[in-house]
Amino acid sequence: MTQADPQKNFFEIAYRTGTDSWTHIPYEISAKHLAEYLPKNALVLDLGSGRGRFPFELAKQGFRVIGLDYVKEVIDKNNDEVRLVGIGSQLRFMEGNVLDIPFTDSSFDAVTDFGVLQHLDRADWETYAHEVKRVLKNGGQYLSVELSRETPQYLTWIPKKSETGDFEFENVKYHFFTESEMSELFKDGFALEDQQNLFMSDREHAVFLVSRYRKNN
Ligand SMILES: C[S@@+](CC[C@H](N)C(=O)[O-])C[C@H]1O[C@@H](n2cnc3c(N)ncnc32)[C@H](O)[C@@H]1O
Repeated sequence: MTQADPQKNFFEIAYRTGTDSWTHIPYEISAKHLAEYLPKNALVLDLGSGRGRFPFELAKQGFRVIGLDYVKEVIDKNNDEVRLVGIGSQLRFMEGNVLDIPFTDSSFDAVTDFGVLQHLDRADWETYAHEVKRVLKNGGQYLSVELSRETPQYLTWIPKKSETGDFEFENVKYHFFTESEMSELFKDGFALEDQQNLFMSDREHAVFLVSRYRKNN
């Protein structure tokens, strides 16, 4: 019998009950931004795709997209929506773990992550970065949007003043990233092309560190 994962359980319940308060990032702006750097007909993998809002945006812009998430219920729901809209040749969702991505090497023109890395155990960061690099083609784009250490306050926390940037609430880990942590994690085989802190006044004053890398070997 596999052991229960309380963090996965949290995400499952959030999607089942509609309490996934994070599903409101401006995906449209990000999709337009990323589109500038993608070849026509690019194949994109969205890690931790949740309700699939970003993959749907990218598909709208003509790209082929696969969303990967470990919550089966939300994957099935998204695939029902894909069938309903009739865009199955462009978009599909798969159940899987971002720490063991179920695709062969050099499969994608871009890999995107909106808020997944920030929830992973520190011990898994290297595996995650290795998996992103493995499935990206040379020259491929990696777009990451994670909680930033510049966040003045989130829930009752003051990330900006935290030494570690690590917090936990209801069995879910949250890490607020610094620019240097991202650089350290993606120092081998990636070139940073763009990085900025995005201030979101409507999301508990969270700040997101948006980083765009190109895989260069
Ligand atoms: C904060 S939510 C973000 C969802 C979506 N990217 C968005 O922006 O709306 C994090 C997502 O990552 C998924 N997730 C967390 N850890 C994962 C893992 N190890 N493998 C696959 N998915 C994971 C969760 O199920 C959840 O959907």
